[in-house]
This record gives sequence, structure tokens and C-alpha cells, in this order.
Amino acid sequence: MQKEKINSTLFIDTTKSERILKTLFSNQEFYMSLTIPILLGTAREGGNSAKVAQTVFKEMQKYEFFETELLKVSDFVTVLKTQGMEEKNADTWKKIMTKADGLIVVAPEYNHGYPGELKLMLDQLYDEYYRKPIGICGVSAGSMGGVRMVEALRLVALELGMVPIQKAVYFSEVNTLFDQSHELKDKLYIQRLKNFFDELAWFAKVLKEPRGKLK
Ligand SMILES: Cc1cc2nc3c(=O)[nH]c(=O)nc-3n(C[C@H](O)[C@H](O)[C@H](O)COP(=O)(O)O)c2cc1C
Repeated sequence: MQKEKINSTLFIDTTKSERILKTLFSNQEFYMSLTIPILLGTAREGGNSAKVAQTVFKEMQKYEFFETELLKVSDFVTVLKTQGMEEKNADTWKKIMTKADGLIVVAPEYNHGYPGELKLMLDQLYDEYYRKPIGICGVSAGSMGGVRMVEALRLVALELGMVPIQKAVYFSEVNTLFDQSHELKDKLYIQRLKNFFDELAWFAKVLKEPRGKLK
């Protein structure tokens, strides 16, 4: 048993918590069908985050119980005012999040924060996020993988009534992370993504039924 000391008297059994998640993840029937869109949270043209979002999308499609689609903030936020989304875009976003059991955001860190256009998009809705898990993938050219953006965005997610999950995937040094065919050079990220999906699926599944019944 692998134990981790979290203060002078309290230990958590890290092996056990990993094992519980993996057991559930291998039980595909448990999850049935979970709708979890992926949102690319930057509108910057030609950015690296688009490659990361494509990778997350590709890896997620390997699990049959996920119903997913890749959304781009640039397709929705065209009016730079709070709640200034065009009506048809606002309707589409509302429909997507009403149906969703959770959300993944892939976003870069800009000056230690999240992109402004991502915040405008998230601010568009409220009730539709309630008690749904959110997983965040950070992207940066530096070594930190967008960790400060992830931490900041989790606070926003809490205020939206979402459940930010513990796991995140930090895509650091993104300028050299992909080969010419846009494939990840470091395959360790595939395992990190699996663990991330694993936790997100667990929360999505566990919250789904009671959310529908207990208002
Ligand atoms: C306005 C701006 C601010 C940035 N701030 C940071 C930062 O705080 N930390 C960091 O590691 N990288 C920072 N970067 C570099 C990004 O990590 C880099 O652009 C990376 O490729 C991810 O973003 P992209 O999808 O726009 O390409 C910044 C880039 C821009 C354009």
C-alpha cells in the first residue's frame, strides 16, 4: 500500500484511490453514455492549443461511452461584450451545455490567466453548468503547462456551479511537443489523458442521475 502523508497525523492511501478509478474505468457498462464536449478556449490564429485540443479529441474518441465534439470559442464569441454572443450562437451553446454531462476545456495560459474570449463564452450561461464536472487541459510554451491558468479557471468554474476535477493535463513546452504530422512526440501524455478521462467520467456518471432527479 502506498501512503502519502498530508499532515502530521493524516495519511491517504494513493494506491487505493488510483485502483478504484481504474476498476470503474475498465467497466464500460457502468458509464453507459456520457456527453462531454471539448472547448478550445482561445481564438488566437494558428496557435498550439488547437493541436492539443485535436489530440484530446482524438484520444477521447477511443472510449465508446463518450459522446464528444470539438468546439472552438472563436465560432461562438464574435461580439466582444459580456453576454454579447449572437443569438444563434448563444442558442447553440445553451443546447450543447443542457445536454452535456460535463465539459473539457483546453486553453493556453496568457499572462498567467485564461484567455478573455473563453471567459466571455463561459459567462454566457449559468444554470446549464450546474453540478456538472469540468476538466481542464493547460497549454504553454514554457515549462509550467499552463498550471496558473488551470488554477484560476477552476475558481471561475466553482462560481458557475461546476465541479472542477482534481486531475488536469499540463501540455508544457508545446512548441516542440508535436511532430510534423501533429502527433505527440511524448507518449506519456496519452496515459495522463487516460487518467484524466477516467476521473472526469466517474464524476460525470455519479452526478448525472441525481442531478436529473433532485432539483
Ligand atoms: C498574450 C500572451 C501571453 C502569454 N503568457 C504566457 C504565460 O503567462 N505563461 C506561459 O507559459 N506562456 C505564455 N504565453 C505563451 C504561450 O504559452 C504560447 O503562445 C503557447 O503556444 C500556447 O498558446 P497558443 O495556443 O496561443 O499558441 C503567452 C502568449 C501570449 C500570446
